[in-house]
Amino acid sequence: MKNILVTGGAGFIGSNFVRYMLNNTNYNIINYDLLTYSGNLNNLKDIKENSNYHFVHGDICDKDAVRKVFKEYSIDTVVNFAAESHVDRSIETPEIFVKTNVLGTSVLIDVAKENWKVKPNDKYDKEFIKGVKFLQVSTDEVYGSLGKEGMFTETTPLSPNSPYSASKASADMVVLAYHHTFNIPVNITRCSNNYGPYQFPEKLIPLMINNCQQGKELPVYGDGQQIRDWLYVEDHCSAIHTVLEKGKDGEIYNIGGNNEVANMDIVKLIINYLGKDESLIKHVKDRPGHDRRYSIDNTKITCELGWSPKYLFDDGIKYTIDWYVNNKEWMDDVISLNYLEYYKNMYK
Ligand code: NAD
Ligand code: DAU
Repeated sequence: MKNILVTGGAGFIGSNFVRYMLNNTNYNIINYDLLTYSGNLNNLKDIKENSNYHFVHGDICDKDAVRKVFKEYSIDTVVNFAAESHVDRSIETPEIFVKTNVLGTSVLIDVAKENWKVKPNDKYDKEFIKGVKFLQVSTDEVYGSLGKEGMFTETTPLSPNSPYSASKASADMVVLAYHHTFNIPVNITRCSNNYGPYQFPEKLIPLMINNCQQGKELPVYGDGQQIRDWLYVEDHCSAIHTVLEKGKDGEIYNIGGNNEVANMDIVKLIINYLGKDESLIKHVKDRPGHDRRYSIDNTKITCELGWSPKYLFDDGIKYTIDWYVNNKEWMDDVISLNYLEYYKNMYK
């Protein structure tokens, strides 16, 4: 029986992961989340009574609170999703990204070190502690941007371009340093763009679905020819589960769907599926420093750990659009808070 601390478990990917793990394992899941603007307990309404699920409200930067949760639940595994996750917000307010994503990760792994009784590294003693693991959920954005050719592998040099990706790359370095210096068993996963239910509508797909339904303009940055490698969120969850069970200590695993799509093609697909008109598209000012293309080489996780994505984009995207259409109450609730003010400032 494992006691897994899932930080940021009330956000988009975290909540899908909590549900996935409760459905596929008998582990105890402790969801530790600050409930910032993107954290939402409505994402977990259906599983909140599950006896293997526990919610603790707290900040990953608060060391005493993290120590308390480690002791109370005898945490042996950490999956760190908690983060500020939106690139556009990082351009407006970078400091909170550094605080949460870098300091928060360093607090978490330091408390793990205290609790897991790991010793400083001795080059003659490379024994890693058994039965514990710190899994850092990182992103393909740490590798920077690609031209027309090429793919990111795990050895591609880090070259983050936004305050968001710089903070995620820094957190990765902290995690690797704790592995090297204190023998903590760690893994880092670097996934491409996720889509699916419960994503906050500041991100491309739910934003376009919501605007389309309301007959509002669809703000496409620049020429809309930027390319992302889209992966259905449940496939990301199964990949993280695979790395938890089979990942080798200290290794980094890229996760991607071999599914490169240009933004404009996604926007048109949503418009057509919802029976709206392409005149809703509005080209707006480009994102400063906008990365042009991401593409993930997932050979390592597929060949070494036997993981592969299950969902085809054509099916996953239709299921996702239907989900938002059928869960209007969820969307209305999310956008009733500070969302409209954010939207007005961002797209002014
Ligand atoms: P999200 O913004 O939907 O969720 C973030 C969660 O973290 C929220 O529940 C929020 O309340 C919580 N949180 C924020 N600050 C916190 C703090 N100080 N203490 C505790 N909890 C805090 O983000 P997401 O899209 O679900 O991304 C989750 C993770 O996956 C992030 O680390 C992100 O970098 C990474 N990632 C995301 C994608 C993607 O496509 N969305 C792809 C690859 C990696
Ligand atoms: O690649 C993984 C990353 O994917 C994650 O690490 C981030 O947490 C996640 O937010 C996502 O980053 P992106 O910047 O790629 O996602 P976003 O949904 O913000 O934008 C996707 C593309 O769509 C990007 O090229 C910008 C463009 N876009 C986005 C918005 C919100 C628009 O053209 N218009 C928009 O209004």
